[in-house]
Amino acid sequence: MEKFYITTAIAYTSGKPHIGNMYEIILSDAIARYKRRLGYDVLFQTGTDEHGEKIEIKAKEAGVTPKEYVDNVSKTIKELWDLLDISYDKFVRTTDTNHEKVVANIFKKLYDQGDIYLGEYKGLYCVPCESFFTETQLIDGKCPDCGREVSETCEEAYFFKLSNYTDKLIQYIESHPDFICPVSRKNEMINNFIKPGLQDLCVSRTSFKWGIPVSFNPKHVIYVWIDALANYITNIGYDVDSQSEEFKKYWPADLHVVGKDIIRFHTIYWPIMLMALGLPLPKRVYGHPWLLFHNDKMSKSKGNIMYPDDLVKIFGVDGVRYYCLKEVSFSNDGNITYDLLVDRYNADLANTLGNLLNRTISMANKYFEGSIVSKGITEECDKDLIQMVNNLKDNVGKNMDALNISEAVGSIFEVLKRANKYIDETTPWTLAKEENKDRLMGVLYNILESIRVCAINLSPFLPSTSENILKQLNIKDTTDTFNESNVYESMENVPLFVRIDKNEIEKDI
Ligand code: MSP
Repeated sequence: MEKFYITTAIAYTSGKPHIGNMYEIILSDAIARYKRRLGYDVLFQTGTDEHGEKIEIKAKEAGVTPKEYVDNVSKTIKELWDLLDISYDKFVRTTDTNHEKVVANIFKKLYDQGDIYLGEYKGLYCVPCESFFTETQLIDGKCPDCGREVSETCEEAYFFKLSNYTDKLIQYIESHPDFICPVSRKNEMINNFIKPGLQDLCVSRTSFKWGIPVSFNPKHVIYVWIDALANYITNIGYDVDSQSEEFKKYWPADLHVVGKDIIRFHTIYWPIMLMALGLPLPKRVYGHPWLLFHNDKMSKSKGNIMYPDDLVKIFGVDGVRYYCLKEVSFSNDGNITYDLLVDRYNADLANTLGNLLNRTISMANKYFEGSIVSKGITEECDKDLIQMVNNLKDNVGKNMDALNISEAVGSIFEVLKRANKYIDETTPWTLAKEENKDRLMGVLYNILESIRVCAINLSPFLPSTSENILKQLNIKDTTDTFNESNVYESMENVPLFVRIDKNEIEKDI
């Protein structure tokens, strides 16, 4: 069985994640579930990034130790991931004893072999981003990443000679056209960052304590990005002088899913670390776009944060998953507002999907006491519907391979819309009046079977909805094409998604 190792970025434990952070994990979960359905031996890892000065400061403000602080936030994050039905296989924490030990070993190895050396750092430092900048990199004198004040620092520090690996890195990127996607990002990395020359990277800090100490010079802690990036190998059993069976089986990663803001770390620093360790590079890094609130970045200071658990209370787990997956396309940012959430929930989930199922089961119960079998495919509109149903699997597959998750979900809803249109074309209530029983049963069968195939295809995206539909249809068949020999009987009829009234939810917002 072919393996598929997929990872998300590990979330900072500075605070509770918002719906934007959640997008990435939902997206990765859909991919992991999809691959499992195809029979891949999937390893899906996520986790939390827990060291750094920012956490040290936050913990102090909260009057707790950094460890107490991150234990608490990491737990919240894990609970949110579980709430959203995220099917991760492994959850790594950078404060795990094994991770800390292996990162220290990696640092020592790189030092011993001359990739890391001791020098002195003079520069401008942004605390929240944990990054150094030169004067020219600043924008209006502020941090180019977050726009906050930077401060002048000078400290003894370890440096990583990235430039030793520039040519090898360019060669790898150019000979592996799928490595960085979207492709626009690849050109950006090569032309704006790598070709102008990579400066040696400062990989230790002495200005704070909350990190993994450099084993042979413990007043230094290891730079958080070296620490964090290593999670992808430490947690599956890599160590400098021994590797587990799991590591041998799953490394290199097949897909690192990360946000567009951290592509640079994953396509420059991380591959160079791996080259220095003599390890193969990941096959693909997908830098996904962002989910914005009213087309603006979510932040505590702006007070425009939406939390996933609050949204679940109103829209349910699959309501939230659906919105995120549908809204953010392969390469363009998506937008989230309460209005848009309600509109999409009502139109797609309550109407196109929920109503279709409801109406169809009601008609089956009313006209045939719930027992429906196929009466063959006879008319043009049947053929058209069934062809769409049978093409669905390939449409979803093509889009999933291209990491076009929004289109993949969209293609299922196109079939559901087609099925709704099929009801308008065939008007079952007229067939009932005309006592055209055979045709009426055939029509209902075609709709039920179309819904079943859509439900099967929906399972990676909306797992519990998919299960609910099959349960209501009382059907076990999990094949993903139109089957003429199913029998539908004793179906349940419970609304899948209850329409949401904008005025009613206003008090919850
Ligand atoms: N800890 C680092 C990652 C280290 S990976 C070795 C980090 N953490 S984060 O908590 O700030 O972000 C986690 C992920 O969420 C990142 O991939 C980031 O791009 C993503 N997102 C943060 N805000 C987002 C949106 N508004 N929308 C979509 N993704 C967003 O970076």
